[in-house]
Amino acid sequence: MTNRISEATAASEEMLSIIQGIVDPDPSLLAKQAVADHINHYTPGLVSYRKSVTESEDYAAIEWSGSGSIVRDVGGREWIDCLGGYGIYNVGIRHPEVLAAVQAQLQRNPLPTQELIDPVRGMLVRLLAQIAPGDIANAFICNSGTEAVEGAMKVARVYTGKQGFIAALDAFHGKTQGALSLMGKAGFRLPFLPLLGGVRHVPFGSAEAVEHELRRASAVGEGIAAVIMEPIQGEAGAVVPPDDFWPLLREICDRWEVLLIADEVQTGLGRTGALWGVDHWGVVPDIICSAKSLGGGVMPIGAFMGRPQIWKALEPNPFLHTSTFGGNPLACAAAIAAIHVTLRDRLWESAAVKGERFMEGLRALQAKYPNVLTHVQGRGLLIGMNFPDNVTGYRVSAGLFRAGVLVAGTQISATSVRIEPALNIPDDLIDEVLRRLDQVLEDVSG
Ligand SMILES: Cc1ncc(COP(=O)(O)O)c(C=O)c1O
Repeated sequence: MTNRISEATAASEEMLSIIQGIVDPDPSLLAKQAVADHINHYTPGLVSYRKSVTESEDYAAIEWSGSGSIVRDVGGREWIDCLGGYGIYNVGIRHPEVLAAVQAQLQRNPLPTQELIDPVRGMLVRLLAQIAPGDIANAFICNSGTEAVEGAMKVARVYTGKQGFIAALDAFHGKTQGALSLMGKAGFRLPFLPLLGGVRHVPFGSAEAVEHELRRASAVGEGIAAVIMEPIQGEAGAVVPPDDFWPLLREICDRWEVLLIADEVQTGLGRTGALWGVDHWGVVPDIICSAKSLGGGVMPIGAFMGRPQIWKALEPNPFLHTSTFGGNPLACAAAIAAIHVTLRDRLWESAAVKGERFMEGLRALQAKYPNVLTHVQGRGLLIGMNFPDNVTGYRVSAGLFRAGVLVAGTQISATSVRIEPALNIPDDLIDEVLRRLDQVLEDVSG
């Protein structure tokens, strides 16, 4: 034991000297060590999954730094970021104003005592009330998207006194067991069955199917607490529902006295060309979930927010839902800075315009390579490219990786690849991505 303690002490000293920049690591040694660490002590599965795209040269691509829309590995190789950390980098990587807010808060008070009232958390919930749709005015701050969904489910159950939920096929709401119960893909659910009872799945975009399930649930005496949907399905490959879907959902939920929850973890804060995804259709949900880009690409944070009358259900026992780290001042400082940059720079407008630029280019490429790029869809800068099969999609992603462009696979659709860059990505980088994609599609089609 003494040996292990002294070895670990020496190892951690060496690690800190790299983290603190006291020594400059040798890129190839660091790469080898990082791969070995992940295989031996994390999970080999993940490494072999990433291997083909990361080991494109003599050493693996080891994430090291980045700024704006550029990602750099430890050897100095650069990629144009069209993956956006699966939606966390709406304001870009290491936005200076987010960093400054976090650094200032870090010097003052990074984590709360849990007992005193934290002013920074207060500021964030006030700000969220100012930007949330309609009369949504209360929030609970947590640490991730899946936690935001868990919280929304709990609040919906407490407020309505009912247990069931209606979610969509192909939906993705996170992987903790409550959120996983809403998941619209068998592979992620099967090893964990039985999950929460009372969850019914309907095709995304069919308001008729939602009403049908409400009728069936009512007929057999099963209460439904809420309908929960993503405004635009992200992990399914940027799937946009018909224009009347969300207005109809609102009308149906009102009529059946069921809450409407919008999971804006991926679509929120400007991503789709509106501040919130539901703003495209002027719909005010009862509860809204946010996370990912809420932390400005610097801190993990999530939030679930709702109407004041719903939050009253939490008043009698404020300990019904708590979190040690949720709402910590460091993450809240990042969120306030991220929201400020989003509002001041009107990033949702930029997402709409830049999204159109991307879409035009992609449609032209689709016309040029119809057998490879079969379909493009999405809204704003949440864009999905569809391929005839997953092998082709994989070849295009790997080709783009080699050409210096990062794109995002999806967890639900094996034939879709997402383009999800920062909302302020420069136009010349968009044009450059389209040029490189043109070349990759030509190679793959040949
Ligand atoms: C719509 C949606 N909800 C929830 C989640 C889960 O968020 P997290 O990975 O932060 O737990 C995701 C993640 O991709 C998501 O896209």
